[in-house]
Amino acid sequence: MSSKTVYPVSTFGGEVCVPGDKSVSQRIAMLAALAKGTSEVRGFLRGEDAMSTLGAMCSLGATAKYDGDLLRIIGTGGRFIEPVNPLDMGNSGTGTRLLAGLLAGQKLTATLIGDASLSRRPMGRIKTPLELMGAKIDLTGEKGTLPMTVHGTPLYGIRYELPMASAQVKSAVLLAGLFAEGKTTVVEPRPTRDHTEKLFQALEIPLHIDGLEITLNGFGPGGPKIAARKLTVPGDFSSAAFWIAAVAARPGAELIVRGVGINPRRTALLDVLTRMGAMIDVEVTEDLGDPIGTVVVHGAQLRGTEIGGDEIPNLIDELPMLAVTGALAKGDTVIRDAAELRVKESDRIAVMAAHLRAFGVEVEESPDGMTVRGGAKLHTPAEALASHGDHRITMSMAMLATFADAPVRLADVDCVATSYPDFWNHLKQLGGRVD
Ligand code: S3P
Repeated sequence: MSSKTVYPVSTFGGEVCVPGDKSVSQRIAMLAALAKGTSEVRGFLRGEDAMSTLGAMCSLGATAKYDGDLLRIIGTGGRFIEPVNPLDMGNSGTGTRLLAGLLAGQKLTATLIGDASLSRRPMGRIKTPLELMGAKIDLTGEKGTLPMTVHGTPLYGIRYELPMASAQVKSAVLLAGLFAEGKTTVVEPRPTRDHTEKLFQALEIPLHIDGLEITLNGFGPGGPKIAARKLTVPGDFSSAAFWIAAVAARPGAELIVRGVGINPRRTALLDVLTRMGAMIDVEVTEDLGDPIGTVVVHGAQLRGTEIGGDEIPNLIDELPMLAVTGALAKGDTVIRDAAELRVKESDRIAVMAAHLRAFGVEVEESPDGMTVRGGAKLHTPAEALASHGDHRITMSMAMLATFADAPVRLADVDCVATSYPDFWNHLKQLGGRVD
């Protein structure tokens, strides 16, 4: 397990291109594996989560080959083969939950396993709706957790009101719905990322969206006939978020991020930072279903803000970095309606509160969020900060370390490779110091 030391720096910023979107890459891996023919994918994330999902699709009969930057995925035409071994989903919650939906209606049995962090995460949230559709799913972990065995069965469409705002649960039900008899409708409590819907539309799978209700007509056990395509993965906004927020909180700093996904269901961070006093410009450069563009950030002394309600799902993965940003702002930053943070790769409320306190920041935890008292002079944590196997905790802490007054040690940082293998190189490229 490797560790890193991140040094404080007086200037930070410049230009960066971030790796491919993790959510989009994994959905493309699944749908290209389902398609007939060879899909050509540009910008596919070479991070561990996307690779785990792609590996699982290859175990189910697809073939993946890199040709330089171009990934070719040869699909199964809808005829998956029963995997010989358990599918190792690594750290990927998206891969696991979406694949459970995709496999529920296949004529095969498959077992999904994962790393320690993934094996603690709740899976009952997908088992419940999938079983309502007729699926047979065993969760053999201690608390409704992995390992999970999906025994493919005939499925029936349902109308399902999601009990939580979760794009993963929504997507699992929609993917299962493709193989069901009849109509499947999901109703969201709040809008969440819509990459599955956008990709269905790009692949000409008919879908009806009416506000928070999404309906599709199932194709039955044979599933839809999808033709392979050329697809482009936008840069991952959630990876760019670390640089965007760190520069926004540094008066006089400037940043340009090119080729990044700016789907409005992902970019609520920009609204929050603007409210906090940063100057941000966004330009759409390409619209391939999911818009891609350039984000330009000018840093300032930020002020605290309140974050909650409908904004939460659209910045859910940015909340660790927003807690850091709150510590750098003047006044209080209040995060609420974000209980989902407790069941991410780690309990991000508890871990962020503990880590910020180690820097001398006052934090009040609540069941669904926290209040961060900004503007404290940062002192350097005495102990190395644990990652808890959570990539976004490590990257958020690395950003805060650039503002500290002495080097900060980060332990067990390998997890960063799940979403951003080039993170440390890009940190250096933007003026950070790390060894
Ligand atoms: C994701 C949805 C979100 C997000 C995760 C990726 C997706 O999770 O936090 O990183 O790709 O659908 P939930 O669906 O659990 O909110």
